[in-house]
This record gives sequence, structure tokens and C-alpha cells, in this order.
Amino acid sequence: MQNRPRRNRKSAGIRDLTRETELQIRQLIYPLFVTADKSAKNPISSLPGQYQLGRIELLKEIESSAKLGVNSFVLFPAVRESNKDQVASYSYAEDNFYLNLAREVKEKFPDIVLMSDVAMDPYSSDGHDGLVKNGKILNDETLPILAKMAVAQADAGFDIIGPSDMMDGRVGYIRESLDESGFTDASIMSYTAKYASAFYGPFRDALKSQPKAGDKKTYQMDPANSREALREASLDELEGADFLMVKPATFYLDIIKLLSENADLPIAAYNVSGEYAMIKAAAGKGWLDENAAMVEMLSSINRAGADIILTYFAKDYARLLS
Ligand code: PBG
Repeated sequence: MQNRPRRNRKSAGIRDLTRETELQIRQLIYPLFVTADKSAKNPISSLPGQYQLGRIELLKEIESSAKLGVNSFVLFPAVRESNKDQVASYSYAEDNFYLNLAREVKEKFPDIVLMSDVAMDPYSSDGHDGLVKNGKILNDETLPILAKMAVAQADAGFDIIGPSDMMDGRVGYIRESLDESGFTDASIMSYTAKYASAFYGPFRDALKSQPKAGDKKTYQMDPANSREALREASLDELEGADFLMVKPATFYLDIIKLLSENADLPIAAYNVSGEYAMIKAAAGKGWLDENAAMVEMLSSINRAGADIILTYFAKDYARLLS
């Protein structure tokens, strides 16, 4: 035999030398759910190990994560029903707890990277990412609302603005509004190829943000499509996005690869709530080795071409590595 590929696997030392990808802690963004109840740490049953965090617990969580090397976070607000309306006005209200928390986090931890979520659903009484009229999700009427939200977030100190809504033209609209308001340094990570996925279930539990009627298929992408992701990517690039994101991650490795080979911007992938919950649930039953499954899942996303991974496993992964 001329070739014996097994020689390059014969020992841990040789495997270390030949390993092609190794995901670094610095590449992770840790999603955290926040609530207005100051001292809350409410478990989320479909996301074991994740909580709705009040101010005190949020600051603790950021501090302990940063000690492990996790320096980037994306915050999602759990908004009281009484603060929701059809136009998501709470999203840019003066007394919005999410904006106030971000301000405080950036004051206390100026070196961490803080990313926001731009979409109407956490604040909308209809539970949709856009404005609903007669059962339809309106595109152009939604854009000014998203832009106001984005400007309020940039003003609160978020480093990266994260439009997760999938309305057409929103990246350009938001970019222009940020620039006009003087926030030329606020970055945009666009949820470029966000699919209408069943794997967001636990996230919607965490925020009680399920659509009240209908589904999200008129704005989120059809899981059957890949070329459409290229179209979304070129639009986001033209409109001024700084990062492109694919979501979910593990079932969309082909899309991550496609965008990483065809776009110049850094590629992020969102390892969503359902992907995390599956591993946690199976590991909880003793059916999977949790750490090994986690490392394999995250490595595959990295190997496919994601430079950045948003994952609920961020802290677990950092703990394992350190
Ligand atoms: C909504 C939003 C969703 C997620 C992030 N932003 C869910 C949805 O589109 O319904 C999902 C994240 C996850 O499942 O972890 N704007």
C-alpha cells in the first residue's frame, strides 16, 4: 500500500498536528435572555442551563463568562405582555429596561462586545417580526420601526446591531438611519439567511414570543432553498452589512459554506435554541455524551466556514477548554 491515511491518526500528538480547525473561545457569542425583574433568574424549561436574567444576575453572568474568555454577548428581552402593542413602541421607549441594561453593561464592562436584536416580535402583541395588518406582514411600514429600535440600541451602547426580522431592505434602511443619527461606528450583523425553522421553539418559549396567528414563512426563508441565500447575501453586502449570518447552523452547513465561499464579509452562524435543546435533552437521558456532542457540533459549524458562532453552549465550551 502506498498510502495509509491512518498514519496521520496514529496518536494524539499526530492528530494534534494534522487537525484542520479548532474553534476558539474568542469566536463565540453567548446569547442571554434578560428581564425587567431586577433579581430574577428564571429557568427556561426547554433550554436547560439558560435563564431569564434580571439586572443583578446578568452582570454576574457576564463577569463569570468573561473570566472564561467569552467576551461577546447578544441580549434578547423578555417583555411583559402589558408592554407589548401592535407597533412595538416599547422597543425604543425612554424607560425600556433592555436599553438601560445595555447601558449599564457597557459602563461596567467597556471591553466586551454587545450585540442587540432588532425585530418586532419580543415587543409585538401580534408576535411577528413585522407590522401586521389584516393578517399580512407589512414590509415597508415595518422599516421605520426597526430603524428607531436600532438607533435607540446604538445610543444605548450596543456595539453590533442585529436585525433578525428578515424584512426586505432593512439593512440599508437601518444603516442610513444609524449614520444620520451619528452612529457611523455601530456595526450591523445581518441575519442574512434566516430560515423558517422548527428549531426556534425553545427561544419562543423563553420570550413568550410565538406568533399569535399564522407563521413566519412570508419573511423567513424556505428551508428547501440555498441559491436564495446568495441573493440575500449580495443584498446585505450592498446595503452595508458588516457581518452575514446563517441561521440555524447545524442543518444549514451547506449554506454556511456557500456564503463563506461567495462573500467577503465575516460569516456568523446561529446555533439556535432547538439545536442546543436536542443535545441537552439526549444527554440528560444518558443517550449522548454531552461534551463530545457539543464539541462535534460546534466544530462542524466552524469547519463549514463560520468565523463566528452564536451559541448557548458558549460558556460550557469555554469551561471545557479551560
Ligand atoms: C426573532 C428571533 C428568533 C430567534 C432569534 N431572533 C426566533 C424567531 O424568528 O421566531 C431564534 C433564536 C433561537 O432559536 O435560538 N426575531
